[in-house]
Amino acid sequence: MAYVPMETSTPACLFLDMGWKATACRTSVPLPSVYVMNTDHAELCASPGWAAHLHDEMLPLAIGRPELGEELLEVGPGPGAATDWLRTRVSRLVAVEIETEAAARLSERFAGTNVEVRQGSGTALEFADDSFDSAASFTMLHHVPTTALQNLLLAEILRVLRPGGVLVGADSLPSQSLHAFHEDDVYNPVEPAAFLVRLQTLGYVDITLGVGSRLTFSAHKPPVRLSELSEP
Ligand SMILES: C[S@@+](CC[C@H](N)C(=O)[O-])C[C@H]1O[C@@H](n2cnc3c(N)ncnc32)[C@H](O)[C@@H]1O
Repeated sequence: MAYVPMETSTPACLFLDMGWKATACRTSVPLPSVYVMNTDHAELCASPGWAAHLHDEMLPLAIGRPELGEELLEVGPGPGAATDWLRTRVSRLVAVEIETEAAARLSERFAGTNVEVRQGSGTALEFADDSFDSAASFTMLHHVPTTALQNLLLAEILRVLRPGGVLVGADSLPSQSLHAFHEDDVYNPVEPAAFLVRLQTLGYVDITLGVGSRLTFSAHKPPVRLSELSEP
């Protein structure tokens, strides 16, 4: 029987193609930096509606069970909607933001609180090994342009977590509408099934993934270093 392709009114979502690429919706205008969020993004992430969505739905769902401990590292805080919620659950929160202006605004916003803001990349953290009890990454992984850089960021988080420490986070699932929303921006969504294997390969244990309207995850650093285990 001959194969007859299905008629669709909209272009198919590029679900299975997870490698970084220029978005099909990109204009021919050269980008100043692949890291700067587009205007729609900057406005959405700074809006009260987005903060309410994070506080009421995404953060409680993602964090649920794990204990965050005393010191938390947040990667990719943007305007700080998640930071606001997270900082009330720990003694000290260090937020690492790659965009210079966003980092400066966040620093001003949280001056005099338990939040310290550092401008830098989650792929090259300035902290010593075993510095934090927990780490958080909310709706930022899809802004990291390649899978290799995402893995580097996840490996850096693992390095700076204390043994037994936990990474918690959430990200949007791949979709055609989000692809369009990221016009002139980075869009490198995480494929949930592959994400489990990626976390395991990097060395995370006790991993929980939730796949619903978004991806939520928690993943732990092993409680004891393999090198500390004595020979049988
Ligand atoms: C979509 S915003 C999310 C902001 C916030 N976490 C939230 O959920 O509202 C993504 C943020 O991650 C930042 N970012 C992207 N790559 C980064 C990296 N390698 N290191 C640190 N921050 C990064 C972007 O500059 C942006 O502020």
